[in-house]
Amino acid sequence: MTEQTYGVAFVGSGSAKLDTVLTNGQMSQIVETSDEWISTRTGIRQRHVASATDSIRSIGAQAARSAITSASLEPADIDLIILATSTADDLFGSACQIQHEIGASRAVAFDITAACSGFVFSLVTAAQFIRTGAYQNVVVIGADILSRWTDWSDRRTCVLFGDGAGAIVMQRREEGDRLLSFAMHSNGEKNSCLNAAYQQESATLTGGISVQKGKYVPVTMNGREVYRFAVKRVPEVLEKSLFHAGITTEDVDWLILHQANQRILDAAAQRLGIPAEKVVSNMSKHGNTDAASIPIALDEWVRSGKIKAGDTLALSGFGAGLSWGAAILKWG
Ligand code: ACO
Repeated sequence: MTEQTYGVAFVGSGSAKLDTVLTNGQMSQIVETSDEWISTRTGIRQRHVASATDSIRSIGAQAARSAITSASLEPADIDLIILATSTADDLFGSACQIQHEIGASRAVAFDITAACSGFVFSLVTAAQFIRTGAYQNVVVIGADILSRWTDWSDRRTCVLFGDGAGAIVMQRREEGDRLLSFAMHSNGEKNSCLNAAYQQESATLTGGISVQKGKYVPVTMNGREVYRFAVKRVPEVLEKSLFHAGITTEDVDWLILHQANQRILDAAAQRLGIPAEKVVSNMSKHGNTDAASIPIALDEWVRSGKIKAGDTLALSGFGAGLSWGAAILKWG
């Protein structure tokens, strides 16, 4: 294990603004559903959808710029950009496109794909580079445009997702580490519960040699199985992380879970004994924005003045993989 030399601070947040809103009422004109079903089963009332001119590059860059400005930094100060996304504009990744778009010319940039756990996994990855002293200023972005990978005739999934991007800036400190603990887990045995799979078709090249050409198909999900997984694993990983941080649930100022379903948030908070007023929830406005959901929620709570420097945050992401993780940190 590398000896820790430096501390991590969380010094800025930002998010992108997507103009197009799709309400539950409008959703009921697309598939057989109702505002009543969607809002009581999930807590979602509307979601934002990307326009034809939006891209992971454009919304990711918007969120990153806003986070960098809020940290009183310039793009040229950034050493590393990690983009958590499952819906990159390019199969080779979108982080470098964002690096160029914002003019972060010194930064190395790469993508991490871990679905709805992607933001927590990326934050933890960024912390490793900071703690070893390799990088000073790091931008972690969560951005997804699931509307491009949704089956708009499948009411079991299409009502759940929205598009968006959020970002934070993490910074090296000589003393004091504000990432108190983390945990990350995967269970590939349950991989088939949630996929946006590659569907291949054989194309013969020559002689006995063929290649598999194909395309990615829209999201499929076993909702009940993922729900059961989330309400078990999320409180468990948070309990473990709080223990490792040496604090209790009473010390948590804000619980920020991946915004998949209000019932999952309520069940996790109840099991942890965290009161509803400490649970950050914005899914009524955004739906499930995949890797973007935690940083968007964080940014909204920071900008509205609810989350303040020094507050203790308990973050947990969970989703496809299956994967799940948590990070306990002090904001600021
Ligand atoms: N409108 C109306 N009826 C619907 C809809 C809809 N949009 N969707 C499903 N139904 C119907 C079903 O057909 C079913 O009808 P039936 O009983 O006649 O067969 C009934 O409602 C109940 O369906 P369930 O799937 O059992 O509904 P459930 O209460 O489980 O809610 C939901 C479904 C919201 C998807 C829930 O299971 C859930 O939130 N799961 C977790 C999802 C999650 O956390 N994802 C996170 C990861 S996302 C990622 O990583 C990209």
